[in-house]
Amino acid sequence: MATASQSMPDLITEAQAYEERFLRQIFVRDQMAEWSKHPLIMARAEDVSYWDVNGKHYHDALSGIYVASIGHNNRKVIDAIKEQFDRLTFSPAMHGTNPVAVQLANLLAELAPGDLEAVKFQCGGSEVTEAAIKLARQYHRLTGSPGKYKIISRYQSWHGSTLGALSASGLKARKTVNEPMAPGFLHVFPPTCYRCPFGKTYPSCELTCATIIEQVIAMEDPETVAAIMVEPIGHTGGVIDPPEEYLPMLREICNRHNILLIFDEIITGFGRTGHLFAAETFGVVPDVLCVAKGMSGGYAPLSAMICRRPIADAFWGPIESNPGFVEGHTFEGNPISCAAGIAVIREILDRDLCGNAREQGARLRAGFERLAERHGVIGDIRGKGLFQAIEFVRDSVTKEPLPDAFGVRVGRRALEHGLLCRFDPNWIAFGPPLIVTAEQIDSMVAILDRSLGEVLAETGA
Ligand SMILES: Cc1ncc(COP(=O)(O)O)c(C=O)c1O
Repeated sequence: MATASQSMPDLITEAQAYEERFLRQIFVRDQMAEWSKHPLIMARAEDVSYWDVNGKHYHDALSGIYVASIGHNNRKVIDAIKEQFDRLTFSPAMHGTNPVAVQLANLLAELAPGDLEAVKFQCGGSEVTEAAIKLARQYHRLTGSPGKYKIISRYQSWHGSTLGALSASGLKARKTVNEPMAPGFLHVFPPTCYRCPFGKTYPSCELTCATIIEQVIAMEDPETVAAIMVEPIGHTGGVIDPPEEYLPMLREICNRHNILLIFDEIITGFGRTGHLFAAETFGVVPDVLCVAKGMSGGYAPLSAMICRRPIADAFWGPIESNPGFVEGHTFEGNPISCAAGIAVIREILDRDLCGNAREQGARLRAGFERLAERHGVIGDIRGKGLFQAIEFVRDSVTKEPLPDAFGVRVGRRALEHGLLCRFDPNWIAFGPPLIVTAEQIDSMVAILDRSLGEVLAETGA
């Protein structure tokens, strides 16, 4: 209880952070009681390594969670942030911005493909996917189509935790407990070629997963549809890497019906797929590009929504008819975060980390292929650059999944052996920092190999 003259209480020690009684004071995303038996509590990090509070070492095959694009403890970035700390730590987002935010916005306008030029900064991914939804709706109001409000996105997608972003997301496990969702959101099946929802095979399918979206639009009435929002490569669902025609087809559908195409590149942005943006990897310019995670590499919270010039121009005009973009958060364009973003992007470009993502991505693919051959339980390998996954099956012909959350067991065993990766009951994904070396990729694959072998031996599969 606060008193008039309260002094600072003693902090618990770092080692105590493992004790259940202290863990009860914090929420994490996992089932808490289960998690607290083996809590993962990181104390420090360097390059592609973490150490927990007990001093145990982990290879970071996940960039934290697709965030630490240039690795941990990069001195150039830390120095840039320190310099900014001495100059300006916060500026009034309500009434203006600051020079570093304008510098970063102009840098993004230079780097983003096509005429993606106008930037709205926020702190996290959910904030910008939600901003993109609002932008689409307001844009149509400003340009004479006020009836366009519906957002089409995909099952198995993840666009964030806030209620608008969650309504666009397609994961029942994360949505059902929060229902009802916001109205005006529709979902279509993603391009999961390995398990086609239409029972077809690529390429003879002629991409039903894309053409059916146009049918959905026709049924809904194109005059009510504001935007299609997709991750170029979907993450949840096991790294859903579309056939090359898919995103160009979505682009054409959007053009035909005056619908905005929004790419959620929260994971794929800033080099992960081997190009600065997956939009370049697939050769498609969306109307709105959402980026976060890897842009500031975890050095400070930062995200951005970048939209095409003609769309941004609709938001200029006399105040009587156009109030500007009605969207904002207190910490948007924070100067510390923007300084971190500029320094991280400089590292990505100066060190050609997109090139390294392509090179080490090829090595990772070869490693996964070796595991598939050796263990016989990997049915599919998917993804691009340093964003790749393997899907486990009991039988590669029937594609029957392995029982008992096999992937989770392998992932947990890998954690015990000092490897951090993303695991799910049926798949495991790697997304290491873009600075990863060939030797580090080999070490990561070797730990996965060992973990997979041990769990298979225990399962008797
Ligand atoms: C593709 C994608 N979009 C949006 C988000 C939401 O980002 P945040 O958790 O920063 O709000 C995530 C988070 O993992 C994501 O992976």
